[in-house]
Amino acid sequence: MNNKKIIIFKTIDNIADFVIAQWKTISEKAIKEKKCFTVALSGGKTPVFLYKKLSHKRTLPWNKTHVFLTDERYVPYEDEENNLHMINNILLTRVSIPKENVHPISTSEVTPLESAERYEEDLISFFRIAETRFPNFDLILLGIGEDGHTASLFPETPSLKDTRHFAVTGTTKDKTKMDRITITLPVINKAENIIFLVTGGNKAKIVKDVIQGKNILLPAALVKPEKGNLFFLLDESAGALLKSSKQL
Ligand code: 6PG
Repeated sequence: MNNKKIIIFKTIDNIADFVIAQWKTISEKAIKEKKCFTVALSGGKTPVFLYKKLSHKRTLPWNKTHVFLTDERYVPYEDEENNLHMINNILLTRVSIPKENVHPISTSEVTPLESAERYEEDLISFFRIAETRFPNFDLILLGIGEDGHTASLFPETPSLKDTRHFAVTGTTKDKTKMDRITITLPVINKAENIIFLVTGGNKAKIVKDVIQGKNILLPAALVKPEKGNLFFLLDESAGALLKSSKQL
């Protein structure tokens, strides 16, 4: 399969430094080859420390970086649950990224379905899909929920089986969570580099199950890049049940 690496770090600061070093290498290579770097970012609490640290990295090639979202919660932009709101506040308004390089998922004036369709249109036109079959991100950052969801691909929901669309609507099977819009598994698996960030003891069991890949109902276990690199970056609590991983 792909190039899969599991690394357990002593501190979340070490995790952030590792991601930033990868971001630098991957973005430089992408810009050299294609004149721009494409990254899809996740919401949730785990990446906040990384986004804060990234916001001080003024020498990264922000003017040639295009930021997409892996998923968005269908709440107004002003709501603190809105992923772009969080990422803008912590990171994007603090670096010199052109406004047109930030690709939002709309949550106002459109239904969730229309929003997914619009986002897909943005992906089609940006990645010139007539030429390449699926968008191919240089880097996708993902988290894992305690139920094994990633992006907004939840267990036992139709979004997991969609092989045709780039973006779809999603929520939990019992619809206890708000509506969401998410990129699909084929888009994720086409990426050149995928990094899962997982911290905290409450994720130790699920991350072990995902990495062992025995439960195929777990969305995060369905992330298998076609030819890209796959990293699981864990802190010691999240990695507590894994024995043979590299320690940094
Ligand atoms: C979101 C996500 C989601 C997240 C996981 C982990 O918008 O919520 O993109 O997939 O990465 O739920 O969330 P935490 O980092 O908050 O644990």
